[in-house]
Amino acid sequence: MAVRREIQGIDGPDPLARAMGDAQYIADEGLATAAYLALALGKPLLLEGAPGVGKTEAAKAIASVLGRELVRLQCYEGIDAAAAMYEWNFPRQMLAIRQAGDEYVNLYEDRFLIARPILQALEAPRDRVLLIDEIDRADHEFEAFLLEFLSDFTLSIPERGTVRAGTPPIVVLTSNRTRELHEALRRRCIYHWIDYPDPALEARIVTMRASTVAEDTARRVVRAVGALRAKPLAKPPGVAETVEWAEAATLLNSQGVAWPRAFARAIGVVLKDQDDLDYIAPRLEALLAEGVA
Ligand SMILES: Nc1ncnc2c1ncn2[C@@H]1O[C@H](COP(=O)(O)OP(=O)(O)OP(=O)(O)O)[C@@H](O)[C@H]1O
Ligand SMILES: [Mg+2]
Repeated sequence: MAVRREIQGIDGPDPLARAMGDAQYIADEGLATAAYLALALGKPLLLEGAPGVGKTEAAKAIASVLGRELVRLQCYEGIDAAAAMYEWNFPRQMLAIRQAGDEYVNLYEDRFLIARPILQALEAPRDRVLLIDEIDRADHEFEAFLLEFLSDFTLSIPERGTVRAGTPPIVVLTSNRTRELHEALRRRCIYHWIDYPDPALEARIVTMRASTVAEDTARRVVRAVGALRAKPLAKPPGVAETVEWAEAATLLNSQGVAWPRAFARAIGVVLKDQDDLDYIAPRLEALLAEGVA
């Protein structure tokens, strides 16, 4: 078992959940426990879940609790090691050669090195949290490359030698599960599946995130979103949509649009897919009556 890591006075999942609450993030017991163990055991935290359930935001809250900078590596199809680790600033190297004339120029000095998120995290592992966001969007090759990094937290720069973190950096990975991740990657991490929050928790999130929204409105919106998620939609609403729907309907209501009409008119805030809108339109009244009556 890895050495227990000192984590800035946070001695257990409950204190961590409270601190995340102060950072405007409500972590349930499962998430707080996984995050605490990842921090305490020095292992990467892998968060999986549907879009909009709060994965990225969880990483931000952890960084905020620890008073660290969040360094985010957004993954995408075709992302390569250069975008993730470091690059040499080629135009700057060329300029330096031209300006130097006959003088010798060391092209591998710091000033020519562009540190990307992984190198940034390795350079200051005590000051940063590395977020590798939406790893499922990257190709298998990139995942294999990450595996190496996550195993020994070193990075080899041929012109400079190996960069090694003095202490394992804190790493959070997220995935929307558009594809399965390698077993080997999972094995290295502490895993947690973030589900849609239960209604009481989601209502708390809404009132925490949107100060203009009344508690009663939050509860109604949460029920309606729950009903929407139960329908066969291409893009079921995430928590962000719940918060925004509550805010938008509250705004319309303050301008004289009655309930539950205000919810119906703000539907474009919660459903952002034409087919989903077409499907819901004839059912909306019934759904609102059932969900927010
Ligand atoms: N537990 C929570 N506590 C507080 N706010 C939350 C929570 N869960 C979700 N949110 C809210 O939902 C929004 C969306 O969360 P976030 O962007 O982290 O989702 P995600 O899972 O990363 O989605 P995606 O897969 O689309 O990137 C956040 O900005 C925040 O307002
Ligand atoms: Mg995200």
